[in-house]
Amino acid sequence: MPSQYVADTVAQLAQSPIRAMTLRCTELGGVNLGQGICDTPPPSGLVTGIGPAAEAGHNAYTRYDGIDRLRRVLADKLRAYNGIDADPEHEIIVTQGSTGAFTVAMNALLNPGDRVILLEPYYGYHLNLLRVAGLTPVFVPLSNEGLQLDAEALEAQAAGAKALVLNTPGNPSGRVFTAAEMNTIADICKRHDLLCITDEIYEYFLFDDHRHISMATLPGMRERTVTMGGYSKTFSITGWRLGYLTAPRALAEPMGLVNDLYYVCAPSIVQHAVADTIDRLDQTFYQRLASDHEGRRDRFCAALHKAGLEPVIPEGAYYVLADVSRLGFDHAQDAAMHILEQAGVAGVPGSAFWQGAEGERWIRFCFGKDDPTLDRAIEQLAIARL
Ligand SMILES: Cc1ncc(COP(=O)(O)O)c(C=O)c1O
Repeated sequence: MPSQYVADTVAQLAQSPIRAMTLRCTELGGVNLGQGICDTPPPSGLVTGIGPAAEAGHNAYTRYDGIDRLRRVLADKLRAYNGIDADPEHEIIVTQGSTGAFTVAMNALLNPGDRVILLEPYYGYHLNLLRVAGLTPVFVPLSNEGLQLDAEALEAQAAGAKALVLNTPGNPSGRVFTAAEMNTIADICKRHDLLCITDEIYEYFLFDDHRHISMATLPGMRERTVTMGGYSKTFSITGWRLGYLTAPRALAEPMGLVNDLYYVCAPSIVQHAVADTIDRLDQTFYQRLASDHEGRRDRFCAALHKAGLEPVIPEGAYYVLADVSRLGFDHAQDAAMHILEQAGVAGVPGSAFWQGAEGERWIRFCFGKDDPTLDRAIEQLAIARL
């Protein structure tokens, strides 16, 4: 029973099932593929860049939108990789992770009560952060088979909505939206005058021939799009809290104001070390990142298939949804506990990503793990009786 002093927006939040799974996994000494924490090593030179940045005296607050050098490096990267032309002086804000960017966008651009579309399955932080901001989520499910965009379902919810949240490559779907799907979303956003908030944190995690498309590059979308990204995943530094957003100046300015109020700035020494690293790395780093994860995807999906937990093969990011309906449980939480007890591998029940019954069919596993950890999970799945 929440205290009377807790805000209504927070009291309504459900306790994440990830926590219960993590606790039980620790008790059992299992392999935790539940949380989206990548434990592969950061690129060489990044960690050793922190000490010199501190010794050089970069220990004070930075400008609210980040140090000049990082904004300039990000502008170059946005132009070269994403095809977005952003003015580093007025249109890029360095944030405390992409979570900070999302929080800032929710609170600077939307009013309490506004309806915000989430494609389902969604990333739980998106849902809960928009609830804390007093916004009203509107759910548009992807198709049951293959998790494709359902244009009719989106069209039906667009009237009366203020914004749409997009996440490609997607967590937990593993979808990389195609050009056709992106064009459909863009067309609906324009016809219904929706703001598009796009979380592109997995932009480099692409498999097979899938190509990342930034929504802001589609005709007529730049002026209504906030593009968010970060280095938690790309550089395996989830605890360092370094993200960014870019948007046209008219949107970036109010977001800068809120970023200053909520966070003051992103960690100074991290900004310096990350700027140096982005500048130093060439394309081979990003290609290797994608191909290493593609190998992990292939090995882990083969193990799920053999265990009778049919995966939806991810096109990007580092999560896979496995169909657990064969196990015969009514609730994904019970299926997840069963797999943890029998195979010693923890995943997250699909009910964390869907509102309705569809979520009970799925469990999400994270394969962004170092090879010994993933190998252990694969071996344990192979010998388990599920
Ligand atoms: C879709 C998505 N966005 C954002 C984040 C968090 O990013 P950051 O560490 O930059 O706040 C995650 C982490 O799991 C994620 O899956």
